[in-house]
Amino acid sequence: MEKLFVTGGARLQGTVRISGSKNGALAIMAGALLASGRTTLRNVPKIGDIFTMVETLRSLGAEIETNGDWLSIDATNLTSCEAPYELVKQMRASFCVLGPLVARLGRAKVAMPGGCDIGSRPIDYHVKGIQTLGAYVDTDHGYVYAESLRLRGAPIYLDFPSAGATQHLMTAACLAEGVTVIQNAAAEPEVVDLARFLTQMGARIDGAGTTTVKITGVRELHGVDYTIIPDRMEAGTFGIAAAITRGDVTVTAAAPEHLEPVLPKLQEVGARIDAQNDSIHFRMVDRPLATDIMTMPHPGFPTDMQQPMVALLSVAEGTSVVTENVYERRFKYISELQRMGADIKQEGRTAIIKGMPQLTAAPVTATDLRAGAALVVAALAAEGQTEIAGIEHIDRGYENLVDKLCSLGAEIYRADSERRGTALCLA
Ligand code: UD1
Repeated sequence: MEKLFVTGGARLQGTVRISGSKNGALAIMAGALLASGRTTLRNVPKIGDIFTMVETLRSLGAEIETNGDWLSIDATNLTSCEAPYELVKQMRASFCVLGPLVARLGRAKVAMPGGCDIGSRPIDYHVKGIQTLGAYVDTDHGYVYAESLRLRGAPIYLDFPSAGATQHLMTAACLAEGVTVIQNAAAEPEVVDLARFLTQMGARIDGAGTTTVKITGVRELHGVDYTIIPDRMEAGTFGIAAAITRGDVTVTAAAPEHLEPVLPKLQEVGARIDAQNDSIHFRMVDRPLATDIMTMPHPGFPTDMQQPMVALLSVAEGTSVVTENVYERRFKYISELQRMGADIKQEGRTAIIKGMPQLTAAPVTATDLRAGAALVVAALAAEGQTEIAGIEHIDRGYENLVDKLCSLGAEIYRADSERRGTALCLA
């Protein structure tokens, strides 16, 4: 198994280009199933989750071509309404083909999803929503079956502003008969991006980015040429990495407005930030200061940035309190940071972080995607060489992370730990 080897201490300096949004691209790829004709997507990140979605769409009969960050999807002649377990178990977002399949083919059979192990991640809002749109839904032997000759628009209330359920139900409602109103909808930038994409395909959607989204069903949608928004989580991760190494980093091809909840918190810990149209300059001179954080649905502090931020706060001056309000198990990586010398106490959904002057290298394991990002951030500032296992999680969501960090001066490489051990013995 490959691992990451990171020697801490290098100050990150330079410019790095941000890739397209993972979460945005995944929702849009599922949405592309709604159209007859070819859809071209640009700025698609080359990461594990996108490859999984490509395979899922291919298994349904969609024709897909890829070239660099460009992807074309032709779902005119779908041949299957079944998304198999082997693919859906790898990534929760692939469950969101259910609604588009019912809308296009009248039925769907989709395995119950997998994805990062960060707490209970039910699909009840998705299932209830599709039922509210008039589909017959049944779950059996690990699969969800849904059937409807034509979905019917209806009012839907989400108990929590779930990003995935908002996106999924928005796509399902596009071809429904009549008007759907989603109340307590998520307002994440990726929801707005999906609405913009669907609208370009011919859908009628109002209110995306607010808590009430109205979708007026149309008869058909057509293929389009669309550019995915920048990945705000990748940009945020590089900002945090710059801060922990007291570096000087500019991220380009970014969308500063999507990081509105993150940038003020980085400023609070002492980072100097200069945001322009599509770039953000992060500079950190002194040791970071402690701060308190509560994760919330957008425009609150994003849960995906909680983990790398805790890594930063573990070397801050003072004590920070971080409360996770979205996923109850998104603190599993804390024990790994503790192995690196972090002083963190967890009480339920709250982490109390007493900043240490210095972390130290240790063998650690990434348990999910953003936990992996947190460990990389911590390792960049730790004394000695940290060995990070479980890097398949990082590959799911960060494009060329090692190359990008190397270009900023980090000492990081990936290698097979067995072979590396042999090489060291022979030397
Ligand atoms: C998406 C993002 C993920 C991010 C999360 C929260 C993708 C591919 N992933 O995940 O990176 O961390 O939003 O911003 O876009 N919930 C239910 N029932 C449901 C659906 C959700 O109870 O049917 C709950 C979840 O358990 C969680 C909360 O709602 O507590 C938010 O989840 P949700 O926004 O749906 O997350 P995802 O869309 O899975």
